Amino acid sequence: LPQAIYGERRANSQGVDLHVAHHLRAFIEARDEFATHQWQAGPLINGSLQFNPENAHSIHSPYDRALEVGLVSSTSTQQLNEALQIASEAYPNWSKQDTASRAGCLKKAAELMQENFAELIALCQREAGKTLQDSIDEIREAIDFCNYYAMQAQLRLGSSNVFTDYTNQSCANAYKGRGVFACISPWNFPVAIFTGQIVAALVSGNTVVAKPAPQTTLIAVRTVEILHQAGIPTNVLHLVTGEGEIGQALVSAAQIAGVAFTGSTQTARAINRALAQREQLPVPLIAETGGQNAMIVDSSALPEQVIKDVLRSAFVSAGQRCSALRVLCVQDDVADLFIKQLAGAMAELKIGNPLEANVDVGPVIDETAQKQLLAYQSKLHNEAQTIFELEAPKDSRGIFVAPSAYEISSLNQLEKEQFGPILHVIRYPANGLETLIEQINQLGYGLTLGIHSRIEHRFKNIALNAQVGNCYVNRDQVGATVGSQPFGGRGLSGTGPKAGGPHYLYRFSQNITVSDTQ
Ligand code: NAD
Ligand code: ALA
Repeated sequence: LPQAIYGERRANSQGVDLHVAHHLRAFIEARDEFATHQWQAGPLINGSLQFNPENAHSIHSPYDRALEVGLVSSTSTQQLNEALQIASEAYPNWSKQDTASRAGCLKKAAELMQENFAELIALCQREAGKTLQDSIDEIREAIDFCNYYAMQAQLRLGSSNVFTDYTNQSCANAYKGRGVFACISPWNFPVAIFTGQIVAALVSGNTVVAKPAPQTTLIAVRTVEILHQAGIPTNVLHLVTGEGEIGQALVSAAQIAGVAFTGSTQTARAINRALAQREQLPVPLIAETGGQNAMIVDSSALPEQVIKDVLRSAFVSAGQRCSALRVLCVQDDVADLFIKQLAGAMAELKIGNPLEANVDVGPVIDETAQKQLLAYQSKLHNEAQTIFELEAPKDSRGIFVAPSAYEISSLNQLEKEQFGPILHVIRYPANGLETLIEQINQLGYGLTLGIHSRIEHRFKNIALNAQVGNCYVNRDQVGATVGSQPFGGRGLSGTGPKAGGPHYLYRFSQNITVSDTQ
C-alpha cells in the first residue's frame, strides 16, 4: 500500500523461539537476576515516587502467595489533586511541542524497554503471574505501541493538511491535544495496554494522569519511570495508585479532558455515569471492554488445526484475555469427533508455576477471581455437560483455576463474561448457521470471532454478518499484532477506535481548521 497510508516502513519488535535451548536459557538467566528483588511503588507525581511505608501494603505473587514481590502505598485525594493540577498546568507547553519531538520520546521509550526487558519480564511473571512467553509478548507489544504511535503521530498529526478547494482560501487542518487525559487500565496487560493508552495520549499532545489496576501497580510504576527516563517531562505524566474509588475520583475531576479506559463493561458504565454527572460538558471516553467471544467450526474444518487453535484461544494466559474464546460452536455432524479430540488435548495441558518453561497455563490473578470462577464452574456442573476438567495443582500456594470445558444447549445460558479458562461448547445444525450468527450477535458483545471453515464464500459471509471488531479465519483468535490487526470491539465490548490502528490517535486529538484569504 502507498506510503501515504502506512508511513515509513514499520518494524515491530523481534520475537524469539523459546524452543531453542540457548534462547530460553538466556531469558531465564536474565530474569532470575531479579529473583529476590523487592520493588516499591506509590503515587508518582511530578517525577517523585511518594512511597510511604506507613500506608503501604504487600503485593504477593499469584503463583505463590507467600512470595512478596514488593510494597505499594496508596494515593490520597490531596495527592490526586496535586497530580491533576500539575498535569493541567503542564498542558499548554507540552501541546505546543512539535510532534516529532514528542514522537522521539516514544521511540526512546521503546529502546529503554528493550534495555530493561529482563526486569520487566521478572515483574510480569512475579506480579501478574504470566508465563514467560506471555511476558515476552507483553513487553514486545508495549514496544510496538511506542514505535507505531510515534510513526502514526508524525504521519497524521504532525503537519497541517492544506485543502485546495472551492473557497479560494487556504484552509488548513491541524491536530492538537485536548488537555489532561485519564488513562485507566486493567491488570491482564499490565505493560502493553498501560503503555499503549499513555503514549497515545502523550504523543497526541495531552498530559496524563494514569491509574493502573491495583493488582499490577509495581510494573506500572516501573514503566512510568522508563517513560520519564525517555524524555517525557515529569510534569506531563503522573501515576496514582489504588482501587476503583480513586479511578472514579480521577474521571470525575474538572480538569479531565478525556478518558482512555480498558477493563470490564461494568466499569465502563460506571465511568460513563461519572462523566455524565460532571458539571463540565462530556469529554471523549475511549472504552475497550469485555467479550463473549465465539468460534464457529463447520464440517470442512481441519480437526487438528481447530483443536490447537481452540486450546490457545481459550486457555493461553489462563483465559484472562478479553479476546479469549468463550464459546466454541461446532456443526453437529462433526461435534462428537471434535469434543473427543478437545478433551484429549486438554489433558495434555500443563498447569502450574509459570516460571517453569514447560507450563502452558499459570494462575489466575487473585482470590476474588478464583472464587468467582470456581462458583461458575459449580453452577455449570448442574446446568451443562462436563467435557473435561483439568486438575489444579495440589499443595500449591498459588491461585489456580484449572482449564475446563462444558457442553451447553443454548447460548442463552451464557451469562456475563467469565474471565478465566472456562470454555463452553455448543452444537449447531448444518442448516442453522444464520440463526447461530444472529444468536451470537444478540449476546450484545462484539470483540473477537474465530471461524474455521475451508469454504471461502461461507467464512466471508460469516465475517460480513458477525457484529464483532476482530474476525480471525482458520487460526486462533488472540494476540492481535500492533499495526496489522488494529484491535477493539463494538457494542458491550467497547466504543472504538481500535488500539494499534491508524485512527486511534485522532480520538485523543482536537481538530482545528484555519482558513486564510491570502
Ligand atoms: P476492571 O473493570 O475491574 O478494572 C479496570 C480498571 O478500572 C482498574 O484500574 C480499576 O481499578 C479501575 N476501576 C474500577 N472501578 C472503577 C470506577 N468506578 N471508576 C474508574 N476506574 C475504575 O477490569 P479488570 O478486572 O482490571 O480487567 C479485566 C477486564 O478487562 C475484562 O473484562 C477484560 O475483558 C477487559 N479487557 C478488555 C480489553 C480490550 O481491549 N477490550 C483488554 C484487556 C482487558
Ligand atoms: N490485544 C489482545 C489480544 O488480541 C487483547 O489478545
